[in-house]
Amino acid sequence: MRIDILTLFPKMFDGFINESIIKRAIENKLITINIIDFREFSSLKHKQVDDTPYGGGAGMVLMCEPIVKAIESVKDDDSLVILTTPQGKSYNQSVALDLKNYKHLIIVCGHYEGYDERIRNFVDLELSIGDYVLTGGEIPAMVICDSVIRLIDGVIKKDSYMEDSFTDNLLDYPTYTKPADFRGLKVPEVLINGNHKLIEEYRKEEQRKRTEERRPDLLGDKDGKD
Ligand SMILES: C[S@@+](CC[C@H](N)C(=O)[O-])C[C@H]1O[C@@H](n2cnc3c(N)ncnc32)[C@H](O)[C@@H]1O
Repeated sequence: MRIDILTLFPKMFDGFINESIIKRAIENKLITINIIDFREFSSLKHKQVDDTPYGGGAGMVLMCEPIVKAIESVKDDDSLVILTTPQGKSYNQSVALDLKNYKHLIIVCGHYEGYDERIRNFVDLELSIGDYVLTGGEIPAMVICDSVIRLIDGVIKKDSYMEDSFTDNLLDYPTYTKPADFRGLKVPEVLINGNHKLIEEYRKEEQRKRTEERRPDLLGDKDGKD
């Protein structure tokens, strides 16, 4: 998969692409990430990319031209163009699983007050990472990339993400590591006795219990309720 991220703040991605699993996925050529500064696509003096809003109001608005030109410079028949916006479709694991199937994602990061509305004509999908407003689309772009990249074959073990929270509308089961007794807090006996059938049953039951307690809405979805 190739991912092009269009931003005014490329340096924000330095840590993201140079650490841990994402770094390894790039080194192993499982993904390519290009960080594109759309200021380079401005034809105005001083590479201006924003201006005051028509009709007045607070903040600066990103102009169409540099963003659209930047999109056009990388877009091909395989591309899906994503706009980060608090007004978009709610992002979740099921959207991540869908995005994983694309060969090329282009993610546009807004900043300041937002974009010229006409930019919406040049994107395929608008995504929000939650009902709150961030200063820019860089963190949402990282959230989207990170959650999609870990689903790509070879990045992490498939077993690992198939048991993650939200698979089959369930939360993950609790996990423990050594020591078996930490300040009197004991690891459940069933996990220590080595009986794999019992361990599997225990984990399934824990998933169901946890989901019921913490996220009953997920079970509602599964049964077609709510
Ligand atoms: C300050 S926000 C603009 C918010 C806009 N005025 C509104 O209320 O809809 C600047 C940029 O941050 C990004 N952003 C902020 N919150 C976001 C969220 N929850 N999900 C996705 N992107 C977000 C978007 O790219 C947005 O254009």
